[in-house]
Amino acid sequence: MIRSALMNVMTSAALKAGRGLKRDFGEVGNLQVSVKGPGDFVTAADRRAEKTLFEELSKARPGYGFVMEESGRVEGTDQSHTWIIDPLDGTTNFLHGLPIFAISIGLEREGQLVAGLVYNPADDEMFVAERGQGAWLNNRRLRVAARRDLADSLVATGIPHLGKAREHSRFKQELSQVMARVGNVRRLGAAALDLAYVAAGRYDAYWERGLQPWDMAAGIVLVREAGGFVTDLAGGSDMMDKSDILAGNEQMVRGLTDLLRPA
Ligand code: IPD
Ligand code: CA
Ligand code: CA
Repeated sequence: MIRSALMNVMTSAALKAGRGLKRDFGEVGNLQVSVKGPGDFVTAADRRAEKTLFEELSKARPGYGFVMEESGRVEGTDQSHTWIIDPLDGTTNFLHGLPIFAISIGLEREGQLVAGLVYNPADDEMFVAERGQGAWLNNRRLRVAARRDLADSLVATGIPHLGKAREHSRFKQELSQVMARVGNVRRLGAAALDLAYVAAGRYDAYWERGLQPWDMAAGIVLVREAGGFVTDLAGGSDMMDKSDILAGNEQMVRGLTDLLRPA
């Protein structure tokens, strides 16, 4: 496990925000049966978690900037450091009482991703990585899966929701190309965890379009530090600008890049 001062700061902020999310997740079940549903409550839970992360990280590292899903960009006096935060990734799961959601914290230094943390408070899995220090799940060092053959692989993706209906036809096309070659496909509903699970070797690979920097920042560090490869879907490294991502070991990434290349 990484015991640097930076990682202590990140883990304690995540544990504090995670305690709140876990409590709120317990409430969601009670609200599920009301006609209105737990929508507003979940939005409030999301904001509370973000506020906790902002306060804790600002206290420990004054001056660092922030890019947060709910509050947007907050410039810091320290121009070289930026936290990239999703306080609740997997909102739809959280809203429906599915315990597959996470806090995601990435840190950029001089424009380079240098640290990442993905924490699911529901099962207490804490994935952390720091550049050059490896990727870890609780106290266990992580490696991406070694499978080379697409036919044996389990591959994760994200399905564009109804609000992104314009993306449906391309997604179906890509899915059918991938389904024809890989062992099977999963859609869990939390991009940060999808990347963490690639780092942990649970998934052989993962691809998705239409993501935001806070969905990917922490997970990118995790996959790289677990010995994996991360690219955009054109094979470059512009994931943040292009909003798409492919991750896995070298062979998987190569195989899937070919399959996902527009026909
Ligand atoms: C979403 C999740 C989901 C992905 C979406 C994201 P949110 O984030 O990561 O898996 O498919 O594109 O927006 O809204 O739950 O933070
Ligand atoms: Ca997200
Ligand atoms: Ca979110």
